[in-house]
Amino acid sequence: PRVALVFGGRSSEHGISMVTAGAVLSAIDRTKYDVLPIGITREGRWVLTADAPERMAITDRRTPEVGDLAEATDGGVLLPVDPANREVVYSEPGSVPKALGEVDVVFPMLHGPYGEDGTLQGLLELSGVPYVGSGVLASAVGQDKEYMKRVFTSFGLKVGPYLVIRPREWKQDESAARKRIVEFAGEHGWPLFVKPARAGSSIGITKVDDLSGLDEAIATAQVHDPKILVEAALRGRELEVGVLEFEDGPRASVPAEIPPAGTHAYYDFEAKYIDSTPGIVPAPLTGQETAEIQALAVDAFEAASCEGLVRADFFLTEDGDFVINEINTMPGFTPISMYPQMWQATGVSYPDLIDRLIQAALN
Ligand code: DAL
Ligand code: MG
Repeated sequence: PRVALVFGGRSSEHGISMVTAGAVLSAIDRTKYDVLPIGITREGRWVLTADAPERMAITDRRTPEVGDLAEATDGGVLLPVDPANREVVYSEPGSVPKALGEVDVVFPMLHGPYGEDGTLQGLLELSGVPYVGSGVLASAVGQDKEYMKRVFTSFGLKVGPYLVIRPREWKQDESAARKRIVEFAGEHGWPLFVKPARAGSSIGITKVDDLSGLDEAIATAQVHDPKILVEAALRGRELEVGVLEFEDGPRASVPAEIPPAGTHAYYDFEAKYIDSTPGIVPAPLTGQETAEIQALAVDAFEAASCEGLVRADFFLTEDGDFVINEINTMPGFTPISMYPQMWQATGVSYPDLIDRLIQAALN
């Protein structure tokens, strides 16, 4: 079958997607699949790229912007438009690429808005092309941290205390919105996490220790999304579970534990990708705790009507409660990413994982 691997994209997680795609390009079974590497530039142009996975890795540990499609820089990652096909530009920003009509399945290895949020999935539905992963609704729910929590709560999953500041509220009366946040802090204590509602990889998130940091944190989050979320800090252990859809339904991987943040304020972008402190797989939990978190991860998958795969992230609080933090419908997928590592430890190798996801989309 012909697989279009789509990566890059318009979101702030463009670079992460490039690294993910590089890993998949290296591992995908070439005897079975004919691969078409398609990049989406930050402007939204779909381009055929060079099939050069070795160039799509974090090569510069100092720059968090780990990759940029078709932009030459020293250091970091770049992937040129296929030199042999320089003229092959599939689309102008926002238009449907012609190549979609010529592939059997699309693997959208995109993170964040315009890729993981249902918009691309809608385009693929309209085009009638099968694709890997969740559909429009689950993707949209999984991208929006407010609606994600609302869905989880309505399905009986526990979420932490949070507050949403919508763009209109902020625009109409900033000081009233700020007052709501301060009251929330009064109730739940500092620090607070201020987050863009729709973003990923911790981009735009600030851990705010007291009132003096609040305004800057709000402004930082609003760069990425005019809707922001304020969350209370949860004390406890940070755990993740991979869910993968098999013929008989979704199954959970062994859980992993994110080690304490150490020198980082929390499990932020640098801790995730630059220092990439390895997660503990499997997480040291009791048999009963493991069974409980696995069941909750499958519940989260079902609650949001996910398809194919999801990574569910939890806290185990000091009171012994599993609180769901979020799901990611297209989790980071490099070999050092938690999702493939958890499946590796469960008995599904990285190439098998890719194969399984593509086969599920084709069937
Ligand atoms: N949003 C990043 C890619 C993740 O969840 O792994
Ligand atoms: Mg996320």
